[in-house]
Amino acid sequence: MTFDIRPLLGKQASRVEAVLQSLLGSALLPGEIARPDRLMQAMRHAALGGGKRLRPVLMMEVAKLFGRDDDGVLAAGAALEFIHCYSLVHDDLPAMDDDDMRRGRPTVHKAFDEATAILAGDSLLTLAFEVISSDVVHEDAGIRLQLTRELARASGLGGMAGGQMFDLESENRTRSEAEIRQLQSMKTGALLRYACRSGALLANAQSDDLERLTRFGEIIGLAFQLADDLLDLEATAEQMGKATGKDAAAGKATLVGLLGAEKTRQELDALLREAKELLSPYGTRAEVLISMAIFIQDRSH
Ligand code: IPE
Ligand code: IPE
Ligand code: MG
Ligand code: MG
Ligand code: MG
Repeated sequence: MTFDIRPLLGKQASRVEAVLQSLLGSALLPGEIARPDRLMQAMRHAALGGGKRLRPVLMMEVAKLFGRDDDGVLAAGAALEFIHCYSLVHDDLPAMDDDDMRRGRPTVHKAFDEATAILAGDSLLTLAFEVISSDVVHEDAGIRLQLTRELARASGLGGMAGGQMFDLESENRTRSEAEIRQLQSMKTGALLRYACRSGALLANAQSDDLERLTRFGEIIGLAFQLADDLLDLEATAEQMGKATGKDAAAGKATLVGLLGAEKTRQELDALLREAKELLSPYGTRAEVLISMAIFIQDRSH
């Protein structure tokens, strides 16, 4: 029923990589005046040659579930991955988590400098919106607008960036379980929810399917951050390609910190059961998505 998802993840991730490569090439897009080499190299450092590409691959697999697999979906996936990569560049800055390693390499501000890292983040964020609103993404301009608006919501004040603010404000403060859940649903959950929801929108899924996949995305989002926090506690830096043991040291508000590793693992199991239940109407067509949920719950990097 479930199978080794890694070869498929690898294959889909290389399709994403090729699109990211071409969008970050030296050729000017129509209307661009110049691409400053240093900024482009920093964006390439941030976005290419690393990363599991889970968000675009989730989007692609959801779209495929509803019958769409083409360059428009890949472009939308690339846009989402740009936002994710930007969030990591800024998350690692000295003013935020102050990290030196990411994806097994120096962080962007270490490989370049802080100002360049800030601008690389800004430029990845804005490039994402250029890409998500491009014609290839969907033939219906109304859907393109919805995808664009929902991406803005998932990324900004009421989504990822807002969650990052809560995360920083919560350092060394007591936070209730409900507060931590809200923080996580924004900081990490919003982009993963979007990954699944947008896949359904891209493929013109019916409204009950859209709701079901949106909920699936919420479950994946929570499971993803729980696993990240467990790995911060239990994994090595070599395994992760980024420093570990930092959440407790920085006094981060995490559910692992509040409930402990054992309860967190139980919750991960319960989330996986809910994910399977949600996708059961699709039978074997949802095999890949279920395997991705298992991978996310059980991942070791
Ligand atoms: C790490 O995300 C940051 C969080 C949102 C917790 P990923 O684990 O998806 O990072 P990459 O893209 O594979 O490096
Ligand atoms: C970051 O969460 C989530 C983002 C929005 C980037 P973390 O700070 O836990 O991510 P890592 O552990 O540095 O990858
Ligand atoms: Mg952080
Ligand atoms: Mg961090
Ligand atoms: Mg972390």
